[in-house]
This record gives sequence, structure tokens and C-alpha cells, in this order.
Amino acid sequence: MKRSILIHPDPRLKKVCAPVPDLSDALRKLADDMLETMYDAPGIGLAAPQIGVLDRLIVMDCVKEDGVEAKPMVLFNPEIVASSDDLNVYEEGCLSIPEQYADVTRPSEVDVRWMDRDGNAQQQTFDGLWATCVQHEIDHLNGKLFIDYLGPMKRQMITRRMQKLKREQARA
Ligand code: NI
Repeated sequence: MKRSILIHPDPRLKKVCAPVPDLSDALRKLADDMLETMYDAPGIGLAAPQIGVLDRLIVMDCVKEDGVEAKPMVLFNPEIVASSDDLNVYEEGCLSIPEQYADVTRPSEVDVRWMDRDGNAQQQTFDGLWATCVQHEIDHLNGKLFIDYLGPMKRQMITRRMQKLKREQARA
């Protein structure tokens, strides 16, 4: 089932999310709903707080090329255990901040540990777009948005645009 995505500014997007203690069918359903919502948007990553659920859960699929098989990933309690000194700049966007993009600098490689959809512990090194995406999504679980990396002027400008968008949506 597709869920609706919260638009910044929203207090739920500023919260530190709680670890998921044990997997349940309800949590697996939540993850499946998030993947459906992400693909529909379309986007390459989505964090639970973006649909108003304050659990440490992210989903992503950074495969964008036509003809390449999709790679949906579900990460419960993802944790960055190591980051490279090398940095990478990507122009980031966010489904909670539609049609706004800005360059963000982050470590180019990260080792991430998480619990998968079957409850198994996993650890993997991410690089390229996957590294940027997983860091962006984990930030969401700590109440942090990509615009928090920008200067105050740019951040306020984008926030004002989003406030205007929300007023328009409320009237529609
Ligand atoms: Ni985002």
C-alpha cells in the first residue's frame, strides 16, 4: 500500500527515530509499503520518518539504468561503522523536499551494518551513489535533512518554498 510522504517543514522530520527491537510482519509490511511508495514517487531512497513512522528503517534502490535488474534494499537499524577519508560531492534531492537540489559533500565510501528483512545481520561497503543515498537516509533517522548541510540563506530559501508549496496543497 502506497503511503503519503511528509513535506518539510514537519516536526516528525526533525525527530531521532527509535531502534526496531524485533522484526514482525507489521514491520515487513511497513518496509514493503515504503518500497512501493519510493518506486512510485519515483525516488532512490526513503526513510520511515518521511511517512510519519519514527522507526529506524530505510529502503533504497539506486539502480537507475534501463535494463539493469532492480535491487530493492531494506535496512532496519542501519549504522555507519566506518567512513572513508575520501569525499564525494553529489547533487542531492529528497522526496520530502520536492524539486529542490543542492550539492552535498560526504564520505565517498561507508561501511554499514543493519538487520535485513529476514532479521539477519548484514554488513556491506557502499560507494558511489549508494554511499550518498545510505548516508542521506540514515540522516533522516537522526532528524537531519540534506538542506542542513547548506548555508542558512539557501536553507531558508528552500524552506520558504516548501511552506508555500504546502499552503498551495492545503488549498487544493
Ligand atoms: Ni531524503
